[in-house]
Amino acid sequence: ALFDFIAGELAKFIASESESDKFRLPPGRQRELGFTFSFPVMQLSIDSGTLIRWTKGFSIDQMVGKDVVAELTKAMDRQGVDMRVSALVNDTVGTLAGGRYDDKDVAVAVILGTGSNAAYVERAQAIPKWHGPHPKSGEMVINMEWGNFKSSHLPLTEYDNTLDADSLNPGEQIFEKMISGMYLGEILRRILYRMASEAALFGDTVPPKLKTQFVLRTHIMSAMHHDSSADLKVVGDKLKEILEIPNTSLATRKTVVEICNIIVTRGARLAAAGILGILKKIGRDNLRDGEIPKTVIAMDGGLYEHYTEYRNCLENTLNELIGDKLAKHIKLILSNDGSGIGAALLAACNSQYN
Ligand code: GLC
Repeated sequence: ALFDFIAGELAKFIASESESDKFRLPPGRQRELGFTFSFPVMQLSIDSGTLIRWTKGFSIDQMVGKDVVAELTKAMDRQGVDMRVSALVNDTVGTLAGGRYDDKDVAVAVILGTGSNAAYVERAQAIPKWHGPHPKSGEMVINMEWGNFKSSHLPLTEYDNTLDADSLNPGEQIFEKMISGMYLGEILRRILYRMASEAALFGDTVPPKLKTQFVLRTHIMSAMHHDSSADLKVVGDKLKEILEIPNTSLATRKTVVEICNIIVTRGARLAAAGILGILKKIGRDNLRDGEIPKTVIAMDGGLYEHYTEYRNCLENTLNELIGDKLAKHIKLILSNDGSGIGAALLAACNSQYN
């Protein structure tokens, strides 16, 4: 059903092209597609790969282990869409490709949206896993799937642990569950629930809505966190509208904002630490020889784009970690829908008509 939906949307897109469209293909030429698929894939070639596992709340068991390009191709056949997938691309790799097309100094791409992940350009020699011939450039792209990072050095709270245990993928994507947009609001809900139960944060009874998983979406948290009114009116309105908690005091509203700030500060600082990890791995974290190449990091995803406090905290932390001198050489840029554009460019590179 998922792939039929995608094929159906492609059919609608094709039908919307007019006769005079300047991008209309000459008769007989097959359309080609860059397929951004933002899940962990065992990439078998540029245009095939099998799904390793779902993340971010997707769960379609019969897809695991299947070639996602073959599945999309079958769905397109069913819908009479004559198109070939020329490139299968993770969103981080698409963002890296799109960013690099615009600016040759782009070496890293990071997604901070529903999920989180990063990709970067590595020296082929530094990849022990790779046994094939080295590309002429001497470089390869690594899709890190950093969302799945976990470590005994990464302290988890009881809120992280219960969120994980109740999720569709317990034990997996631990870093993602601490830093990405799908989960920040849910961490907030869990904290508020405990404070309501144990410290009567919202009065004598626990507001029933607070029991529902994922009622507090991250964009609502963001709206409350950015409330600049003196009486925190937005916080009051959201608590009423979403959690059905009327008449909160200013002190309670302040507490809610403070918790938003704690959750976001932790997430953004961890994301910045992840970026520093990449800079270290590629030797761009210090000015040993007086100079390092300019390094641009292409950022995409709704969390980074819209959650200003998160973005600011991430940027400040990165500068704090690398220091002022180095900060001049490292730049973050917003690459809006960079992944879609990058996938299209990669599909063009691998066109059957080249
Ligand atoms: C999840 C996926 C990963 C993707 C990221 C951002 O972590 O596993 O493939 O890049 O979300 O969308």
